[in-house]
Amino acid sequence: MCGIVGILGKQAVAGDIVEALRRLEYRGYDSAGVATVENGLLDRRRAEGKLRNLEARLHNQPLQGRTGIGHTRWATHGKPVERNAHPHMSAKVSVVHNGIIENFRELKAELTADGYKFETETDTETVVHLLTRELGRGVKPVDAVANMLPRLQGAFALGIIFAGNDNLMIGARNGPPLAVGHGDGEMYLGSDAIALAPFTDQVTYLEDGDWAIVTREGVEVRNAGGMRVQRPMIRSPAGTMLVDKGNHRHFMAKEIHEQPEVIGHTLANYIDMAEGRVRFPDLGLDLSAITRVTISACGTAYYAGLVAKYWIEHYARIPVEIDVASEMRYREAPLPKGGLAVFVTQSGETADTLATLRYCKGEGQKIAAVVNVRTSSIARESDAILPTLAGPEIGVASTKAFTCQLSVLACLAIALGKAQGKISDAKEQELVNALTEVPRHITTILRQEAQYEQLAHYLGKAKDVLYLGRGSSFPLALEGALKLKEISYIHAEGYAAGELKHGPIALIDETMPVVVVAPKDELFEKTVSNMQEVAARGGQIIIVTNAESGAAGCPVHAHIQMPDTHPFTSPLLYAIPMQLIAYHTAVFMGTDVDQPRNLAKSVTVE
Ligand code: M6R
Repeated sequence: MCGIVGILGKQAVAGDIVEALRRLEYRGYDSAGVATVENGLLDRRRAEGKLRNLEARLHNQPLQGRTGIGHTRWATHGKPVERNAHPHMSAKVSVVHNGIIENFRELKAELTADGYKFETETDTETVVHLLTRELGRGVKPVDAVANMLPRLQGAFALGIIFAGNDNLMIGARNGPPLAVGHGDGEMYLGSDAIALAPFTDQVTYLEDGDWAIVTREGVEVRNAGGMRVQRPMIRSPAGTMLVDKGNHRHFMAKEIHEQPEVIGHTLANYIDMAEGRVRFPDLGLDLSAITRVTISACGTAYYAGLVAKYWIEHYARIPVEIDVASEMRYREAPLPKGGLAVFVTQSGETADTLATLRYCKGEGQKIAAVVNVRTSSIARESDAILPTLAGPEIGVASTKAFTCQLSVLACLAIALGKAQGKISDAKEQELVNALTEVPRHITTILRQEAQYEQLAHYLGKAKDVLYLGRGSSFPLALEGALKLKEISYIHAEGYAAGELKHGPIALIDETMPVVVVAPKDELFEKTVSNMQEVAARGGQIIIVTNAESGAAGCPVHAHIQMPDTHPFTSPLLYAIPMQLIAYHTAVFMGTDVDQPRNLAKSVTVE
């Protein structure tokens, strides 16, 4: 994951920037760079690989500027080579960037037609040229950024410095986090407070959509509408902790808000964003010859696997067998030799999942692990690792790990569909483009968080809650119910919407909230019919949908409006309301959100 550092210092800053970048190494990176303003001119050093390569470069050719930005890059658009490493720059401006500029193809075409030459394969270079064009027209740096930001679509964080201006650094946040550090006559910018810990513990976290005009005298923060806003300066404990809560009350909240960033990075590992193609690692078996896929996992990871079943069967037309690991390990299921068995796990240490993996290995299966902890037992015992780049997940409730698992499994479904000749090049591009838009849509959903706080006052009084969904939304109903019960201790159950009338409908009365996960897809009308059945019995519906007509005339207690997106990516997006409903209800109930009773983060016993 990319890391951003910026310093307005009293003396040469390149060395301090490298030190700060070292504290962001845990995020993972494949190249690094620093740019400074020296005698009014911008200059930079970049290197592939580890920071020591950049340090060697700086040793041979030092940078002396007192104003600088630095970056560790996790390649998304373009190979991890020096040419694509950040900072990117023109004679007028230098930029570091974390995230994805989704509309970079359109911007690149516009700028190329305007005579701008692209030297890299990155999306970031469009930001450099957009700013250079503004500055070339005589627009002042702050106004140039104000004009440029609305042109960008996607989830991103930026750090920007300007030639001829030794006392200005601009940071912008649209999704991924960015913090401003306050020193004594010095100011800083960082992807997180950990990077800034050696310099200061006085930190201002930018809110989503904010941008910060930083000088040695202080910071002016503006919101997305360009209005000046006040953001508090807080004392960060990051100096002593590797992983902190930032300005969030709980790790779970922080991890929910990290999703646009970590999903972007996870996707970048499996798709070529510039080409709109899946770039899947070699699993050591011929994907076109696979006749059956077996998936096993526990809890939330199992629900990610269940979504994958819908995706793989629909898009690759391969039958998928799936079971919770605690059942599959003793079931002695017959498995055809040479098949693909996929294990989904955040910790990589879940005892039942590990035991099932060993069983499948014994049955001659090729083992692939969708895993967050790469050094874990499950990662070590697998033939192929499909990493989720979620970063450390501290809250017991799985949030960002789940959506990163879904991201990897979505790419797997496309890769299988391609290999099996069931997905055309055009379809692949359509699905990849839809995935690329997910971080931005999640950012939009997270901006509407206030409604969940209100809803929590109602749900917090319920004794039981039902969740309903059809198709790939059924696992989301299960996930919503699991999330609510594990952190709020309210009894909740998820059902396939069509199963309602086979039993659970007996529970419905006016005291029963029913959360309906209903994206506008080919099953929407059927879900609406089930909703009518609930409404007719007095059930209190909370509908989560992108349908313009909402609940299609059905009376509802609450309506959570979702962005209009490709149905393929619905599970990734509808996971967010499931998390926010549970989180805010638990906060309202006053439970221990990050460490709920009786639960462990890593379940290493049967
Ligand atoms: O580490 P794993 O992904 O293998 O863990 C599996 C489950 O224990 C886990 O997803 C659990 O269900 C979560 N607490 C749910 O939020």
